Amino acid sequence: MKFFADTADIAEIRDLAATGLLDGVTTNPSLVAKSGRSSFVELIADICEVVDGPVSAEVAAIDFETMLKEGRHLAQIAPNVAVKVPLTPAGLKVCRTLANEGTMVNVTLCFSAAQAILAAKAGAAFVSPFVGRLDDIGQNGLNLIAEIVEIYNQYPAFTTEVLVASVRNPIHVVESARMGAHVATMPPAVIRSLANHPLTDKGLSQFVADWQKTGQDILSQELPKRG
Ligand code: G3P
Repeated sequence: MKFFADTADIAEIRDLAATGLLDGVTTNPSLVAKSGRSSFVELIADICEVVDGPVSAEVAAIDFETMLKEGRHLAQIAPNVAVKVPLTPAGLKVCRTLANEGTMVNVTLCFSAAQAILAAKAGAAFVSPFVGRLDDIGQNGLNLIAEIVEIYNQYPAFTTEVLVASVRNPIHVVESARMGAHVATMPPAVIRSLANHPLTDKGLSQFVADWQKTGQDILSQELPKRG
């Protein structure tokens, strides 16, 4: 499963990229507003310098003509830009047009399996079903991931990757991975939380304490010359 960071905070992106575990980045207008950056295009260019994998940059317009112009503009920032469009009839039309031009498209705001089928038919590189927002209204977001993965698996001609979005916790990540979803995009805090386990902390404290009892230092010990 690929891990994308769902943030427009360049410092966070740099920090996560340095772990070697980051495969891409997703942004949206809300995250861009939160970043406080005054040039969206510059922000995306900065992110693309740090991350080799897909970087989603969302169009702002909602009509076909302007979305297409914005998408073409954003696609020129770097080869790894994935233009993000909303799952609307106009957005799907933009998706098909950009996909035909060789641009990666991420179709976002997907809340049903029917919508996900349309995204695949429109040639999307990624479809973004929002699990957390479905959970928020009392539905089961992970059921949607199961449905989409099941459907896409029936049609090898569908090349669209399921990008699980609106991820709020490690369960969303683990369950999506069990279903075979291709990507999870997560806020940095969720990515970091994946490493946490109280027994890891407890076990490590014990090992550190026991090692101290040996009085040894690994780096000061010469390597044996054998054979
Ligand atoms: O980028 C889309 C998405 O991941 C939004 O997440 O937490 O605002 O529902 P959230």
